[in-house]
Amino acid sequence: MSDLEGMRNMNVKHAIALAISVVASPLLAQPTPIKMSIAADGTGPKIDRNIFGQFAENLGTGIYGGVWVGEGSSIPNVRGMRSDVVSALKALKVPSVRWPGGCFADEYHWRDGVGPRTKRAVTVNGSWGNALEKNDFGTDEFFDFLNQIESEAYISVNMGSGSVKEAADWMAYMTADPGTTAGAERAANGHREPYRVKFLGIGNESWSCGGAYSADYYVDEMKRYARFTRNLNIQQQGTDNPAGGSVAGTDPMQRIAVGPGSLDTAYTEAVMKAWKGHDWSWSIEGLSMHNYTWMSWPPSFSSIDFGEREYAMLIKDTLKMEDMIRGHSAVMDKYDPAKKVPLVIDEWGVWLAKLPGSRDGFLHQQNSIRDAIIASINLNMFTRHADRVRMTAIAQMVNVLQAMILTDGPRMVLTPTYHLFKMYVPFQNATRLPIDFDAGTYSFGDVRVPRIDAIAARGTDGKLWIALTNVDPSKPAEIDAEIAGIRVGAASGTVLTADRVDAINSFDKPDTVAPRPISARVNGGRLQVTLPPKSVTVLSVTP
Ligand code: AHR
Repeated sequence: MSDLEGMRNMNVKHAIALAISVVASPLLAQPTPIKMSIAADGTGPKIDRNIFGQFAENLGTGIYGGVWVGEGSSIPNVRGMRSDVVSALKALKVPSVRWPGGCFADEYHWRDGVGPRTKRAVTVNGSWGNALEKNDFGTDEFFDFLNQIESEAYISVNMGSGSVKEAADWMAYMTADPGTTAGAERAANGHREPYRVKFLGIGNESWSCGGAYSADYYVDEMKRYARFTRNLNIQQQGTDNPAGGSVAGTDPMQRIAVGPGSLDTAYTEAVMKAWKGHDWSWSIEGLSMHNYTWMSWPPSFSSIDFGEREYAMLIKDTLKMEDMIRGHSAVMDKYDPAKKVPLVIDEWGVWLAKLPGSRDGFLHQQNSIRDAIIASINLNMFTRHADRVRMTAIAQMVNVLQAMILTDGPRMVLTPTYHLFKMYVPFQNATRLPIDFDAGTYSFGDVRVPRIDAIAARGTDGKLWIALTNVDPSKPAEIDAEIAGIRVGAASGTVLTADRVDAINSFDKPDTVAPRPISARVNGGRLQVTLPPKSVTVLSVTP
């Protein structure tokens, strides 16, 4: 079995055998090992490292306080970016950061955020809690931040309250030669060389907060933005940009169109149909999709002090991502069977009720072992669709929704989701390998979900990497894996688990959920490992 649909089918034989062994005698109550086979000499698609991207919106304390504290702050910083957060993010090898939104992008006017900070406009963030937006963190600060964490820019342009000209002028500010007026302004603001804008989002949720456009209206507008919002750096131009002639630059920017936020395929159909018929004058190189784990709107599940019922329900809700990917991929396949246009899931994650006492509109929530397990399930789904899903961005990076990092004044804590992302770094640009196993079933009340999830890949370091998730919050799982094609000498790695389903890292107890070393047993070329309840394990195999 190689996909989630297969995983969903409970292995009846396995379940009956387990039930009989438990009833028959306590002496026989040892868990039946789960057989797994991995073709280490096999091949599969590349797991694009952009699958591990992140989203940072001007929202709540995601930027202000979370990333930016200002040069005069007593919190250690480099040119205003807090050093603790920068060094933690650097370790994640974040491939790209989407900014400035989100809904905020469609009311962001880039000119408010360039030039001397004392002269910048003070505006109101109408999307998020009417917070004062002092625009201290603008374009130049964003690129400085990217430079510090060593990541790429994914800029979302304002298609809601802005214009094509405003977006084109912003692109010129970022990418034009310093000999131009726009490039000279950038140089005067401290950055002579053009910035690299690797990804450009043409609007955000244009079916909702981005303007509530019909799909057809969106497509007409999208074509104008795709045509005129030019990257003026010659290396970043595509063949449709006359300034680049018929020769594309060596590092062309990817334009990402708005796509679906539900199973409704109207945007997917309209954008992909337009793409299929596009002429030389415009194109897109990605279709966005948003999908959160939230049970229902507005999100009411708590991020703290919850029990197994909420744990099980949210795991189940996460699996709807599979239906979303399959549904929209099928439409994309119709117009693009060669899978040239990636599906870019640039907002995903667990969206929970705001923490008691936190400000409305700041989307501030805690982060538990449950969220790390949900992240592993999502990332595994993305890798199983790696031929189409080649970029994603978790929402969001710091202090907002399913964050990597939480801060409180000078204090910082790494969340379970942070640790999970760090454990998955070896899967960046790895080659997915065939893996087969009986997922079994974990059930609670009427919720039934696959108990085990797993992916395998050959890393860019040449090693075999395996990620194993045990969803069951109470029972360990014995894995017995046959590995074909390589000699298995040893296998070790890290495991992330906790005593309770709602275990979190707080500022006072920052290491409640932290990765610990784990080793697998190697027995006659087979690899055997015990996965603790509610855990994620990442192993590397050495000859
Ligand atoms: O991530 C929070 C918000 O969720 C984004 O601003 C918006 O695009 C989505 O609805």
